[in-house]
Amino acid sequence: MKRKTLTQYLVEQQRKKQAVSAEVRLLIETVSRACKAIGHAVSKGALGGVLGSLESENVQGEVQKKLDVLSNEILLEANEWGGHLAAMASEEMETIHRIPNRYPKGEYLLLFDPLDGSSNIDVNVSIGTIFSVLHAPQHASGRDVDEDDFLQPGVRQVAAGYAVYGPQTMLVLTVGTGVVGFTLDREMGSWVLTDDNITIPEQTAEFAINMSNMRHWEAPVKRYIDDCLAGETGPLGKDYNMRWIASMVADVHRILTRGGIFMYPRDERPAGKAGKLRLMYEANPMSFIVEQAGGAAHDGSRRILDVQPTALHQRIGVILGSREEVERVRRYHQEAL
Ligand code: AHG
Ligand code: MN
Ligand code: MN
Ligand code: MN
Repeated sequence: MKRKTLTQYLVEQQRKKQAVSAEVRLLIETVSRACKAIGHAVSKGALGGVLGSLESENVQGEVQKKLDVLSNEILLEANEWGGHLAAMASEEMETIHRIPNRYPKGEYLLLFDPLDGSSNIDVNVSIGTIFSVLHAPQHASGRDVDEDDFLQPGVRQVAAGYAVYGPQTMLVLTVGTGVVGFTLDREMGSWVLTDDNITIPEQTAEFAINMSNMRHWEAPVKRYIDDCLAGETGPLGKDYNMRWIASMVADVHRILTRGGIFMYPRDERPAGKAGKLRLMYEANPMSFIVEQAGGAAHDGSRRILDVQPTALHQRIGVILGSREEVERVRRYHQEAL
């Protein structure tokens, strides 16, 4: 049977569940086209002159990679003319990017991590793009949108997704009606539906964490990892495997595909107090996707999607994946109170 394309999927969502307005459909199609362009640049590597770092630092205090900036520009240019957005925000931009006056404005806000896993760019390991869509109806009139309009809890997301530039280039998406996956057909240049109902196994025996931070972890995290490492004779009674790709998109994609728990917890260092990952364009979109796939996502005490943001680039601890495992870690935090 002929596989569906992204456009056909979105038209059907628009028709049957009203989960997707015409503007959101245009937005997702535009972002997916931009991800194709980013994936194309990524795949050129040294041949495209896109590897390596720039002299510049971003608001996160990270040295920017050429692809961080190029991906950011591709997403800005692709999305500013369509009339579906009031503004955009990105890991790579200190303040929000309003739609230039020469273009019509819409009611939606687009947030993105244009290139996730930057430390893997120069070593040819899977990287990705993460995006999140919020609604700001008061801006249809074009009233100047400001940063506060972006500070909405993750439960208010209209859509979220990521592209992963790996052996296959894939797009994973939710509009609040479950999670679907598309594989890029390079010959046709189209996103083809290859997973029409992605669900995360409730149980797992595979954890993902950067072990080099162990001495900084809070007690409940240490307790959980010790339990995993204790193997069959330990309290969890299972032999655990470990994976850490250091591209959140790739680690989360593995978990959506075969289960697992991903942890980038806050830690006891001053710089790690709030966690490393950014709430608005990493934790929130990934948590929306994970919950829609039947998983769970919290920061040790709070459900991530319930957190009321106070700053555009705020960081948060992230524990997400197979529901039973994530609940266990949450219980360990509660028992430590
Ligand atoms: P980004 O490249 O967008 O800055 O994000 C990198 C993040 C995330 O993708 C990954 O899970 C984490 O950083 C890896 O951190 P470590 O290098 O400390 O393991
Ligand atoms: Mn990232
Ligand atoms: Mn990034
Ligand atoms: Mn970065």
